[in-house]
Amino acid sequence: MIKEKPELATGQVIVRNLFTGNLTEITEIERDSFIDPWPEKWFEAFILSDEISWGAYINRTLVGYLLATHTRENVHIVNIAVGHEHRHNGIGRLMMKRLYEFARRGLQRCITLEVRRSNQQAISFYQRQGFKQTGVNEGYYPGGEDALYFELELRGSE
Ligand SMILES: CC(C)(COP(=O)(O)OP(=O)(O)OC[C@H]1O[C@@H](n2cnc3c(N)ncnc32)[C@H](O)[C@@H]1OP(=O)(O)O)[C@@H](O)C(=O)NCCC(=O)NCCS
Repeated sequence: MIKEKPELATGQVIVRNLFTGNLTEITEIERDSFIDPWPEKWFEAFILSDEISWGAYINRTLVGYLLATHTRENVHIVNIAVGHEHRHNGIGRLMMKRLYEFARRGLQRCITLEVRRSNQQAISFYQRQGFKQTGVNEGYYPGGEDALYFELELRGSE
């Protein structure tokens, strides 16, 4: 029998700026999502900077976040995660959509990121949105895993 997913319209999810009061929830999701989680102080510095730090909220509860840097030319995703129990509901995609809107308004040419070679779930998530691999940084991550570089050209993408 196929397990039914709880009904979740992404309309119930609000994407807005993170604030430092979210740090405990952020680090919980982070530790649950990555083998090399960022320490809380990195998130704090990011939130207090002028860079992009957005959270996805359901009824004021933080369920995911997206952090990115930006220049005139490019937006670079430095961190994205959705809490385990909220994945596969379109929340990651919703945050990405907001990022595309941001980049289009800012006339940036592309969105870039790097991802662990073994992170197949994230790789297919990006590929389905039109990201193409542009390179490899061998042994980039602590422990020696390769980083794959991906890029989305904004012209013509959704
Ligand atoms: C990558 C990540 C952020 C995606 O977040 P998410 O909220 O699960 O993403 P979405 O729900 O938008 O899309 C994920 C999948 O669910 C599917 N999906 C979306 N809405 C759905 C729905 N209502 N019902 C069923 N499936 C759905 C999508 O088609 C997508 O399929 P795919 O993974 O095969 O491409 C999440 O998996 C995560 O936090 N991973 C751990 C951290 C990580 O690796 N981050 C990336 C570092 S580079």
